[in-house]
Amino acid sequence: MTSTRTSPSPTQPVLAVAGVSKCFGAHRALDSLTFDVKPGEVHALVGHNGSGKSTFVKVLSGFHTPEPGYRAAVAGVPMTLGSARAAHDTGLRFVHQELGLVDNLSVADNVLLGSAFPTRRLGRIDWTRARRQAADLLDRLGYSLDVCQPVAGLSPIHRTAVGIARAMHGDTPPHVLVLDEPTAALPTSGVAGLFDVVRRLQADGIGVIYISHHLDEVFEIADRVTVLRDGQHVATVPIDELDTDRLIELIVGKTVDLGRTAAKVGVDQAPVLEVRDLYAAGLAGVDFGVSAGEVVGIAGIAGSGRETVAGAVFGSLPRTGTVSVDGAEIRPERPERAIEAGLGYIGADRAVTGLIPFLSIRENLTLPRLDAVLRGFFLSPQREARDVRQWLQRVDIRPADPEKRADQLSGGNQQKVLLARWLRSLPRVLLIDEPTQGVDVGAVERIYQVIRQAAAREVSFVVSSSNSDELVALCNRVLVLSRGCVVGELSGTALTREAIDRACLTGALTDPMENLR
Ligand SMILES: Nc1ncnc2c1ncn2[C@@H]1O[C@H](COP(=O)(O)OP(=O)(O)OP(=O)(O)O)[C@@H](O)[C@H]1O
Ligand SMILES: [Mg+2]
Repeated sequence: MTSTRTSPSPTQPVLAVAGVSKCFGAHRALDSLTFDVKPGEVHALVGHNGSGKSTFVKVLSGFHTPEPGYRAAVAGVPMTLGSARAAHDTGLRFVHQELGLVDNLSVADNVLLGSAFPTRRLGRIDWTRARRQAADLLDRLGYSLDVCQPVAGLSPIHRTAVGIARAMHGDTPPHVLVLDEPTAALPTSGVAGLFDVVRRLQADGIGVIYISHHLDEVFEIADRVTVLRDGQHVATVPIDELDTDRLIELIVGKTVDLGRTAAKVGVDQAPVLEVRDLYAAGLAGVDFGVSAGEVVGIAGIAGSGRETVAGAVFGSLPRTGTVSVDGAEIRPERPERAIEAGLGYIGADRAVTGLIPFLSIRENLTLPRLDAVLRGFFLSPQREARDVRQWLQRVDIRPADPEKRADQLSGGNQQKVLLARWLRSLPRVLLIDEPTQGVDVGAVERIYQVIRQAAAREVSFVVSSSNSDELVALCNRVLVLSRGCVVGELSGTALTREAIDRACLTGALTDPMENLR
């Protein structure tokens, strides 16, 4: 609306909104939210999948127009929501989970994209100045990057840095930076670097809205936290007045027990999946087998090869070596053959991999496996409806509306639909990267249960995860990768979070009896 600007006083919020609502048809995704951010404050926004967090962000960024009757001000200046230009000009800046970088353009181009490039006389772009501006911005965030290189080759940490630098660039100074699940695509080792950037912005008086499902991050970086549930404001509390149990209670509305008991499954049979001499990006000769109903974990620090095992076995990444299911070898890079042989794969990029965006949840769930709902040769609507309802409940999709289009689902709910779809078709082996990435705290245990139930029905799993607690909770056995090779295997009482973390960091197993001798 306006680009009139004032400097915020220390007490005046850099952003204050009241009565912000957003409806999608009859569904009220955000219900009269009141929210503010002070200068230099990190205000975390948390809530279960579909609670309205990204909807609020999209209202602020001008992507959605809110219902009438709200009030909004940036640094004390009233503003109209619903226009991307007004949001940018008044100082609201955004880093969405999908960073939206253009891979074949340079770092400098990506940083300046979307705002005016510096020009010389006759309007010609001043490339020297453009590169210097981009480099200065990155420098202020604590990164020294070659701004002429294409972003395609950058690590996830540097990609995030470019995303933030781009958000901060512009003719008008930013007041608020919104980070929507910034660590979802970041290796654990990148979180500290991101927090350094956030602290630099804080020191400049910028208010940060920080959205994450990782409560440990929230406790580390946030000053206050606001909890949403089903689009409703539940509470806004200074972080010092909370502990993890209380925060979980606020998010889910009841106390959940995140008891971490590994499923115990008989694993004496011949392997269902056999992987021999697997070479792929980051992998240098990996061997392992997985028995029926066994859950095998893959641990390792970022760059250890952990991230590529599942994709390489499935065939969505190039590989050499042999992969067999029930003794039959699957040729490399033929995912469709892998599926026929009984493999399933859920990648870590939570984008709609595998979901058909314009179809409903019901159609996405039932299309791949019509036989479960066929009566004779006819589709039974009742049976289909019952089956779909059960799966929506099982993986806790909210709201449990089977007719909702897949592309209208929140990020975490898309992940749940994908999981439900594969499990419903009972593959021989399901390969999953980061199974609960982006999934809310209340649904995590539910998803573990669903995986355990499928394992009890002889579905085998390969789960690669950066979360050691998750591996302990889910797996019968965990393989630790370092520099592309399996350096150890943990199971039984030796399978603990500490043992995984130590093995990942040292690249070797330490003998658990060592300290007792
Ligand atoms: N374009 C849309 N059309 C219809 N419904 C939508 C649309 N976008 C979001 N919704 C619905 O609004 C609700 C809130 O979704 P939102 O994306 O804000 O959740 P979220 O809190 O960000 O969840 P997550 O943690 O899974 O990312 C959900 O029920 C979602 O299905
Ligand atoms: Mg979201």
